[in-house]
Amino acid sequence: MCGIVGGVGKLDLRTYLLSGLKKLEYRGYDSAGICYTESGKTILSKVAGRVASLEEIVPENIHPTVGIAHTRWATHGQPNAQNAHPHQSQRKIFSIVHNGVIENFRPLAHQLKARGYSFNSETDTEVIADMLERFYLRSGSVIESIAQTMEALEGSYACAIMFKDEPERLYFMKKASPLLIGMSDGCMLLASDPVPMVDYTDRFIDVDDGDYGYLTPTQVKIFNGRVEIEPRFVHRNVDSFRSDLGDYPHYMIKEIEEIPGVVVRLIDNYFDGEHFTFNESMIETLRHTKKIHFLACGTSYYASKMGAKYFRPLGKEVLVSIASEWAYDPYDITGDTVFVLVSQSGETADLIRCQKIINDRDGISIAVTNTKGSTIERKATYSCLLYAGLEVAVASTKSYVAQVCFLALLFAALENEIGVVLDIDRVVDSIRNIISRKGEIEALAEDCKEVRDAFFVGRGYDYLASMEGALKLKEVSYVHAEAYPGGELKHGPIALIEPGTLVVGLVSDPEVSSSIRNNFEELRARKGRLVIFSTAAVANENDAFVANDVKPYLAPNVLVVAMQYFAYYVALAKGLPIDKPRNLAKSVTVE
Ligand code: G6P
Repeated sequence: MCGIVGGVGKLDLRTYLLSGLKKLEYRGYDSAGICYTESGKTILSKVAGRVASLEEIVPENIHPTVGIAHTRWATHGQPNAQNAHPHQSQRKIFSIVHNGVIENFRPLAHQLKARGYSFNSETDTEVIADMLERFYLRSGSVIESIAQTMEALEGSYACAIMFKDEPERLYFMKKASPLLIGMSDGCMLLASDPVPMVDYTDRFIDVDDGDYGYLTPTQVKIFNGRVEIEPRFVHRNVDSFRSDLGDYPHYMIKEIEEIPGVVVRLIDNYFDGEHFTFNESMIETLRHTKKIHFLACGTSYYASKMGAKYFRPLGKEVLVSIASEWAYDPYDITGDTVFVLVSQSGETADLIRCQKIINDRDGISIAVTNTKGSTIERKATYSCLLYAGLEVAVASTKSYVAQVCFLALLFAALENEIGVVLDIDRVVDSIRNIISRKGEIEALAEDCKEVRDAFFVGRGYDYLASMEGALKLKEVSYVHAEAYPGGELKHGPIALIEPGTLVVGLVSDPEVSSSIRNNFEELRARKGRLVIFSTAAVANENDAFVANDVKPYLAPNVLVVAMQYFAYYVALAKGLPIDKPRNLAKSVTVE
């Protein structure tokens, strides 16, 4: 994972690099570092921990001509200052930041050791710096050394590279990990995504796989293989990459409370009041395909599970796979299948790997993503945006609801079921009602803040929602939480119920309400502590929280919002870093 930034030219580089890193912390935040050239001297600073700690040790009055910086999610070696980027080559002539994983770094390190190199860190990145140096000492050309290093590397990388003797040049190379170039007045910028650059420019180049080159304050040179490529800047609407906390204490609660607006915007984008406005060719492709296969990770996977359930009445085979599993067992690639790749970020490495497999075999894919210009969005046959706005908190909230509502709308378009739009309108009202009653959920969470384990239990749609509820609780509150279908409890998990074990029960579907209520009684009989979230039509008087009714197939969207608040308030009561939970990152850009 990790986020990288770099810049060269006339700008306040300290501000750009440090504020840029903060905006990239969603990609990892266990250590950070910066390297810059000032008056011909290369200066390197690194810390364990957050960018805020790095900021404290970088002098205020510096005026670098070129600089690079990094926020890390450790893949190789502990999250300490030594392993933090930037890394330098043995003779300190190259300084680099890297996002990705070098798969063959052990054999390369072995070769370098045989040539007298030793290493200061446990990372795979240091090997890249030393390879550059080794090839440079042979060829005397930085560009040639980058080309040769790329030929030797296996794995993924987006790198920004400084060369000691060129204080006005910033080199880069890219394969599989994302990298963008931005152009501003008298300066060129680099970053893992547009967010650090939006206050400086709206003109970007998406660096392609295999590209490498360099930036000067006014010029971009790009090569691929040994061929020079014409740089093409494109304008992007950068407003969608901005997000301020406003009066909110955390992005997570802000983003939960944006959900009604997100759903309304989604409807506006895909329904004109009379007709659905999806791409016609995509709809026809879906109508004629025999199979629909969803691929996703994390929250997007749970949203896909819900979407798949909506699609089953189409009479097609509908499958859902975790991207990281399917990528290593890519069955079902025939002309009869449309793959639907669901991803908030559009940059999740496992899903990108799936997409490559699909594209290599001329398969058809639909990207459902929140991020315009992301890899998944650009590489799919068809792409559909969620219009949820920038999601900053690591735990995904508004994107889940947007994904599920999107899939309901897509199903409705396939079946010409305009009534679905009205059903989703009621979801908006019901979620607004939950937002107005969040204090009730805060009180429940306060009571549960000491728990170490929790079971989330539901049936049918409610089971699918309980999976997402359990994921939210473990992500932000560090409570061990597992979801089970009510009927499965007796096949093992009930052995873990002790007096006081927290069971969060979900019930909204009338078809299964009596059977799930029986399951709740079985848990109560073993002295489990039940906190039940229900909807009005199936509520009992002892339920902890009762949401307004919506159609059962959409009720999980409402109950999930209550679960999101529950996880948020448990984490708040425990004093945890809600927006950036330990060990996690928002965009998982390594497999
Ligand atoms: C990470 C994030 C999750 C997200 C998952 C999939 O694990 O922390 O919030 O659900 O990645 O990300 P995607 O961007 O592909 O939806």
